[in-house]
Amino acid sequence: MSTREALARDLTLARDRTMRLVEIDDAELLRQYDPLMSPLVWDLAHIGWQEEMWLLRGNDPRRPGLLSTDVERLYDAFEHSRASRAALPLLPPGDARAFCDTVRAKSLDALDVLPEEDGTGVDPAFVFGLVVSHENQHDETMLQALSLRSGPPILGTGTPLPPGRAGVAGTSVLVPGGPFVLGVTAAEEPMSLDNERDAHVVDVASFRIGRVPVTNGEWREFIADGGYREPRWWSARGWEHRQQADLVAPKFWSARADTRTRFGHVEDIPADEPVQHVTYFEAEAYAAWAGARLPTEMEWEKACAWDPATGSRRRFPWGASEPTAALANLGGEALRPAPVGAYPAGASAYGVEQLLGDVWEWTSSPLRPWPGFTPMLYEQYSQPFFDGDYKILRGGAWSVAPSILRPSFRNWDHPIRRQIFSGLRLAWDA
Ligand SMILES: [Fe+2]
Repeated sequence: MSTREALARDLTLARDRTMRLVEIDDAELLRQYDPLMSPLVWDLAHIGWQEEMWLLRGNDPRRPGLLSTDVERLYDAFEHSRASRAALPLLPPGDARAFCDTVRAKSLDALDVLPEEDGTGVDPAFVFGLVVSHENQHDETMLQALSLRSGPPILGTGTPLPPGRAGVAGTSVLVPGGPFVLGVTAAEEPMSLDNERDAHVVDVASFRIGRVPVTNGEWREFIADGGYREPRWWSARGWEHRQQADLVAPKFWSARADTRTRFGHVEDIPADEPVQHVTYFEAEAYAAWAGARLPTEMEWEKACAWDPATGSRRRFPWGASEPTAALANLGGEALRPAPVGAYPAGASAYGVEQLLGDVWEWTSSPLRPWPGFTPMLYEQYSQPFFDGDYKILRGGAWSVAPSILRPSFRNWDHPIRRQIFSGLRLAWDA
């Protein structure tokens, strides 16, 4: 498949996904489910606006677009906080859909005549890849919003997933110390984003890492052992937040930790499923209680991508082949993580499983640039956040599109956030 064909496919897959998410009545699209999230209709028109800006206007706001200046300003994420967006005079859902359709038709025309190189130094195909990544990232954001929605469910319970394996929860593997290559080059991963570049050698000491993420069943033991009531497991900031926010269990769990609400469905909590909807502070406390720690993102990436037999990176944990439903739980249709042990064929060279998909995994690392960082066309993607109070999450969740995920992909959020599909994996010094 040519790059052009792959981009056309990924653009269409992303749009199909977006359209399925907004296949609800207009009143729903205008609702703000939580101050943390935008009304879905904002995400919809923002997807179209950003696509138009990058692909059709050469990222130059002085070049005219389809919307008036006053209207397009509403969709600049840096001008309006999420909490304020419901009160803006947003495009009605019908107009937002029509705008996105018109932009997309022009984008596909532009893709048809995509040059190899356009003289600006920016790979024209990369900009299409950025649009694919951006739309899919907003689809995940919309899933976060929908998970916060109150009232009778409007989404189903998700597609079937493979069964887990007994005996893998709580086990770990050794990753011997030594240098490895962290990050990727543009040549090997043309669609990688600015903060994943450039590849460079990093030495890490030997460590052990959980074969699979921490499960709901294990988390219940932490609760039963008084983990949320014992300051000694928590950092000072973490304990302060635990008290202030009155955290007693992962978000969406009942007070008795026996049922949860998932996209409006109340159900028993599956013991063998990776825990999700925990803050960094909770993950850190759980790890301390378990006699472990969170991995650094360097350790995480080594366990995921490094192949000690060849002394080189694998494109995916399992090798070079593209993700499939037999290798990882990705794409958003499952609406939940898969039980631990569900993907033995997706194991990394070290035997670590479920690194891609299922839940975003908190690491102990703050968001910082790799040496020689150069911002990409979307300059505000990473750079404004480098000095902020953010922790890195790795590996993508069930909600992430396979076309945009790589072992080098870095996500970040405030340590108090848990409306995201966040879980954890333990690590130990070895
Ligand atoms: Fe955006």
